[in-house]
Amino acid sequence: MATICTATTKGGAGKTTLLVNLAAEMRRLGYGVAVVDADPQQHAARWVLHGMARPQDVGSEIAEGRHGIRLAANVGDHDIMERILDLAGHSDAVLVDLQGSANQAMLMAFGVADMVLIPVQPSEFDIDGAVTTLRSVKAARDMTRRDILARVVMTRTSPSFATRSAKETRTAFERAGVPLLKVEFLERVAFKEATFTGSAPSLDAPDSPAGRNVAALCGEVLSLMAASAGASAA
Ligand SMILES: Nc1ncnc2c1ncn2[C@@H]1O[C@H](COP(=O)(O)OP(=O)(O)O)[C@@H](O)[C@H]1O
Ligand SMILES: [Mg+2]
Repeated sequence: MATICTATTKGGAGKTTLLVNLAAEMRRLGYGVAVVDADPQQHAARWVLHGMARPQDVGSEIAEGRHGIRLAANVGDHDIMERILDLAGHSDAVLVDLQGSANQAMLMAFGVADMVLIPVQPSEFDIDGAVTTLRSVKAARDMTRRDILARVVMTRTSPSFATRSAKETRTAFERAGVPLLKVEFLERVAFKEATFTGSAPSLDAPDSPAGRNVAALCGEVLSLMAASAGASAA
């Protein structure tokens, strides 16, 4: 189906939380999912392996994680391409979590990605990180001469009211002609709690507000990719 990267040069924007929740939702939908963790912090790997092993114990071999998710942990510049391409041959979706800085692994992952999701919290600092990341997406497009979908995702926004900073952030991208997902990744305690259990609202409580939020987000991502695949086949 697809290789999707979560990336931004801004730390703490919500890359890993978004990625693990998309992985969980895709599993709920019955897709074969693999996670590639190229961030030295190994938080995505930690979630996939929760209660089974520590990321450093599985090395860089492909491992079978929880929820039927396959995992390539501890991935770096030298093996990221090989791992993504290998897992893509056996999975419907490969989700790649990247380090919060512009590096070689990021550029290589973008080069084989179908879509790059750039999480942005409502702040000027996060906007700046997204702009830098979009430059790397453009470099990967120029190098590979292929289209790579990129979407900014507003993260940790208030479920109950529209804040001025969220409106300003969305407007800044719209003015610059940068496409954003319509659905926002809302601030929910359930997403934090799931880091302690290695699960996700999609799996434990799909009808909860957090579960429905991820279902809507994932639905928008999947339909964008289907539309783009249809356009390139036409
Ligand atoms: N939608 C959300 N709701 C609540 N907390 C969130 C959400 N997204 C991220 N967080 C929290 O924000 C912090 C940073 O998120 P994380 O996914 O680790 O960012 P990154 O991978 O970009 O460094 C973490 O403490 C995480 O629990
Ligand atoms: Mg992270």
